Amino acid sequence: MSTVIDLRSDTVTRPCEAMRDAMATAEVGDDVYGEDPTVNLLQDTVAKLLGQEAALFTPSGSMADQIAVNVLTRPGDAVMTAPDAHIAFHEAGATPMLNGVQFSFMPSGRFGGDDVRAAYHDNDHHYPPTTLVEVENTYNMGGGQVWSIEQLREVTDTAKDLGIKSMLDGARLWNAAVATGHTEAELCSGFDVVTVCLSKGLGAPVGSIVAGSRELMHRAHRVRKMLGGGMRQAGILAAAGLYALKHGRERLHLDHENARQLGQAIQHISGLSVATKKVDTNIVIVEVDAQFATAAQIQERCEVKGLLFWPTGPQRFRLVTHLDVTGAECDQAVEILKDVCSACL
Ligand SMILES: Cc1ncc(COP(=O)(O)O)c(C=O)c1O
Repeated sequence: MSTVIDLRSDTVTRPCEAMRDAMATAEVGDDVYGEDPTVNLLQDTVAKLLGQEAALFTPSGSMADQIAVNVLTRPGDAVMTAPDAHIAFHEAGATPMLNGVQFSFMPSGRFGGDDVRAAYHDNDHHYPPTTLVEVENTYNMGGGQVWSIEQLREVTDTAKDLGIKSMLDGARLWNAAVATGHTEAELCSGFDVVTVCLSKGLGAPVGSIVAGSRELMHRAHRVRKMLGGGMRQAGILAAAGLYALKHGRERLHLDHENARQLGQAIQHISGLSVATKKVDTNIVIVEVDAQFATAAQIQERCEVKGLLFWPTGPQRFRLVTHLDVTGAECDQAVEILKDVCSACL
């Protein structure tokens, strides 16, 4: 069977032998009692990397995000974020359902201090109190775009001026650090709570982290338990996370280079164009000319030829590079897209 080129997400990677060895030999204990040394080491390691006092291991990024919203809001509050932010769009409605909050949508995925001020309501009794602003870095549906450090500071400073909380969904913060040259801690500075994923570009099979002050993480622990996220000998999963942190970050630039080259080649395929001016990290959002085909039609025809990706709208699809896809396979993906598109002409 010819190989499938899977560009659906950076979550599709499979653990390598060395990662599996690390998992098999991990020292473990009961993490619900706080006694798993490998989980404790992972939490301490990530807290340090993010410049936070404490961190908590969770089974998924969605759970980490929901815990963050929970400890930073009260039911009835409004959360400012982008309309297509993961917490609003891709967590199965969990944010309002589990936390009793509603959204106040910002005009775009990367917004400024003025946007935060414009969406903020304080004591007017007609409105829900806006108590949290959420930033996604990298911005997934925006094509993996990174926020500049100045944009991040503007939002966190404005939140502080207004007396509200701020949270960073850093599922792909590692990619943002590589793309901007800033440390993860610099990119997290000023946020009250931060979430990161080990199971995306870094290649762990499971696992995310929520991090913040000791006091907030104490509360986060209870919320994790409430959501059913208390795990027992989770050190076998944390070992994969530690391996991913040690070996995954140093190669992310290769995924970025592959995505950049994909983006460049796609600009020369008639009927397709790249939605962003620049490919910042490992995600390329492609627009399909409506005169020509729909994204679903292109997807179906590519799938038959062994290239997988997801439409993100009627005329858009997303390609994600990762550690299980090579530069040569990205070149092959371009050839498949060219074939499919020329057959649509
Ligand atoms: C920006 C962002 N945040 C959070 C998540 C949630 O991660 P998980 O799939 O582990 O729940 C994702 C997953 O793709 C994501 O892209």
